[in-house]
Amino acid sequence: MKICIIGTGYVGLVTGTCFAEIGHDVTCVDKDAAKVKLLQNGGMPIYEPGLPELVQKNVAAGRLRFTASTPDGVEPAEVVFIAVPTPPQPDGSVDLSFIEGVAREIAACMTSYKIVVDKSTVPVRTGDKVAETIKRYCKAKVECDVVSNPEFLREGFAVDDFLKPDRVVIGVKSQRAVPAMREIYAPINAPLIVTDINSAELIKHAANSFLALKISYINAVSVICEASGANVIEVANGMGMDARIGRRFLDAGLGYGGSCFPKDLSAFIKISETLGYDFRLLKEVQRINSEQMERFAKKILETLWVAKDKTLGVLGLAFKQNTDDVRQSPAIELCQRLQAEGATLRVYDPQAMDKARAVLKNVTYVKTMNEIAEGCDALVIATEWPEFKKLDLEKVRRDLTHPILFDGRNLFDPAEMERLGFIYKSIGR
Ligand code: UGA
Repeated sequence: MKICIIGTGYVGLVTGTCFAEIGHDVTCVDKDAAKVKLLQNGGMPIYEPGLPELVQKNVAAGRLRFTASTPDGVEPAEVVFIAVPTPPQPDGSVDLSFIEGVAREIAACMTSYKIVVDKSTVPVRTGDKVAETIKRYCKAKVECDVVSNPEFLREGFAVDDFLKPDRVVIGVKSQRAVPAMREIYAPINAPLIVTDINSAELIKHAANSFLALKISYINAVSVICEASGANVIEVANGMGMDARIGRRFLDAGLGYGGSCFPKDLSAFIKISETLGYDFRLLKEVQRINSEQMERFAKKILETLWVAKDKTLGVLGLAFKQNTDDVRQSPAIELCQRLQAEGATLRVYDPQAMDKARAVLKNVTYVKTMNEIAEGCDALVIATEWPEFKKLDLEKVRRDLTHPILFDGRNLFDPAEMERLGFIYKSIGR
């Protein structure tokens, strides 16, 4: 199929590249000319494992190209995907002006029937608005079907999530769009759910909110574990073996962050309010999440007693492993909280240091993981990067003036850390 993707952020670039990989002819459009040039020259605007190789392969095969011109992408395409940002607004709702702008641009250059698919995460009823807008601004007398096809990609695992999804959700108003959507996803081995547009849009918000709820639930349980002497990992393992619950997204830590969960929860609460329902359950999920980081910061501060004039090493700045994304990162918030108490910080992240530099100032960025503890009074682990498990703990213990390690992601075994001579404090154990 001839596909156009508008927006080459995380979602658009992964989606376009993976569609090319499964055999479609894809043009990615972005109005950021510098980004288009970078991609045309073989550069990568984001860190996403496996993506550069796939881009290179599909560009070379002639199935994938980049342009800054919307008409060049839209005119020849049978199906146009919208994958532009929906940033949060101060009141919790999302700013849909990029979606609206793109809908108008598509309408302006539509000269034949198109299927316009929304991939961005949007509040329920956005599809209706997109359809209305295209109809209003389309000069040529051509028809168009709007489809909702929410993405379920996790940063850091996006290529795999795209090529091996649990399900594909297609929300349609007219059955006319269904065969083309089935054809696009035919090479992907996953159940394809066809539903109405509003339900498809809600599936995305409800799924993300439920995953965030699962994380807040286990974080709340971690508080009880600490107070009672239980171990949150044992509890999560035992709960997770119940197939109705499942073990995934039951890792207690510093709480969820990133560009999706915090924004999507606020948006879901807001749209629920607009529709007449006060979603208090999700407000509680948010409250537990922000308390979790604060509780960990207090644990550090109470142990150090006075943070001023102390130097702390911090491992991890990204909002989670496998990404360079620091948006809404609990690790960055923790660093800023510790700085506000007067602590001096040495920090390291395998991928996120460049992006962190823009938001986290007055810290020392160290070049390698194993030099993090040099001259420090304590070490903090803030992101669950797998390589942190291979930390040279003997060196860390020697480098620290006091062998104190705060583990916000439960990477190590408490008994083993004690045996190595550490004062080791983690979450829910
Ligand atoms: C999330 C969803 O998982 C995707 O399905 C969805 O497509 C995406 O949002 C989106 O809406 O675009 P993502 O934000 O990339 O993906 O990251 P996750 O892997 O879901 O992690 C989110 C946060 O939860 C991270 O801060 C992570 O550290 C935290 N987390 C996750 C926990 O604290 N505990 C867990 O057990 C799992």
